[in-house]
Amino acid sequence: MENFVMYNPTNLQFGKGAIGGLSAGISQLGKKVLLVYGKGSIQKNGIYYLVINQLKKAGCEVFEYGGIRPNPIMEDVDAAAALCRKHEITAIVAVGGGSVIDSAKYISVTVPVRHSVWDFLENKAKPKSGLPLITVLTVSATGSEMNGFAVIQNNKTRQKLGYFCPFFFPRYSFLDPEFTYSVPKNYTAYGLVDTMSHCLEGYFGKGESPLTDKFTLSVMREVMESGPKLLENLQDYDLRARMMFASTSALNGLVIAGKVGGDWGAHSIGHTLSVLYDVPHGATLSVVYPAWFKHLLDRLYKKMSFIGENLFNTTNVAETIYEFEAFFKKIGCPVRLADMNIGKDKKEEIIKNLMVNKANGNNFILTEEDLNAIVEMMM
Ligand code: NZQ
Ligand code: ZN
Repeated sequence: MENFVMYNPTNLQFGKGAIGGLSAGISQLGKKVLLVYGKGSIQKNGIYYLVINQLKKAGCEVFEYGGIRPNPIMEDVDAAAALCRKHEITAIVAVGGGSVIDSAKYISVTVPVRHSVWDFLENKAKPKSGLPLITVLTVSATGSEMNGFAVIQNNKTRQKLGYFCPFFFPRYSFLDPEFTYSVPKNYTAYGLVDTMSHCLEGYFGKGESPLTDKFTLSVMREVMESGPKLLENLQDYDLRARMMFASTSALNGLVIAGKVGGDWGAHSIGHTLSVLYDVPHGATLSVVYPAWFKHLLDRLYKKMSFIGENLFNTTNVAETIYEFEAFFKKIGCPVRLADMNIGKDKKEEIIKNLMVNKANGNNFILTEEDLNAIVEMMM
């Protein structure tokens, strides 16, 4: 087992009515608040008004930055940071999914500096501080509500890159499963895939940590048990709650404890698909994983057998790969590029962008030949 530090300062408040804790949480962090949100779902389902009520109750002056898009972009971060500087904002409240929360994380560390957020991604600068951040989660998927990661896209360089920073951990996160009732079936399913994928990234990370692997498999089993039922009943509280807890648990440090870190090769290939074709994050992963498994089979053999035995009751690795693909199909997610209307003619463009994004895993190193073969298998 590798040495590890377990550090997670987020105060997570989970359950029906959890939003009621927001006014007390924000009161400790200042009175001038930037509310960050996406393209309108929170106005439609009313979460916006519940949040505003809490902020008013705490006596906050509220400024807003809405319109964050799925696969968020650096321009929004830079513009929102400028708004924060102008109004001397003291805290940020992000209401949404991974795209909104990740943008808010980057906004928080960009406010104190005078350059673009992208300088951090290019390692030209390092965050030195961040405005305190509170999140209100509205879709179960990324785990961003309880971790120090954030991903952002640069459409000019066609890169989508991730970054870890200790200032990114939200101070508070409010998770009410009812807030996810309005997430449509397809995005609910992408969240299942993303949660499974975070487990897989941890599981295939460098190092051996048997107890961690058992936690990881439990989270995956939870997704496979409750996920398909949830897709048949999108407003079932217990199923929404089970998915919400599973998705947070898949990327809050639990599934990499005792390992050097996760692998993240499949995710970095997925980011190329998002930056080129603007496809949802979870949908990229259900396409990448079957191909990644098949191509790396010899290298993954031992670990795949263990997963197969525990999740699918088989030691046959080919069968295990088949079962994963069947699960992704069963929940209505794409498993080939063609399912996302990305044609074979795009192969060269994809390979080129994988090089630009330096797509690779930390444990299972991918050469250009590997990437070529994986893309071929995604076709
Ligand atoms: O923009 P709005 O109108 O809010 O609609 C959103 C968006 O269209 C909608 N939505 C969210 N909550 C809803 C809802 N619709 C109805 N009812 C609700 N309650 O869902 C759509 C997707 O939202 P988004 O935030 O993009 O989804 P997700 O949470 O999957 O986040 C994806 C982003 O997170 C990054 C991904 O790369 C991608 O950019 N990731 C972040 C990670 C992290 N910080 O730890 C790790 C992940 O691996 C991932 O890379
Ligand atoms: Zn992910």
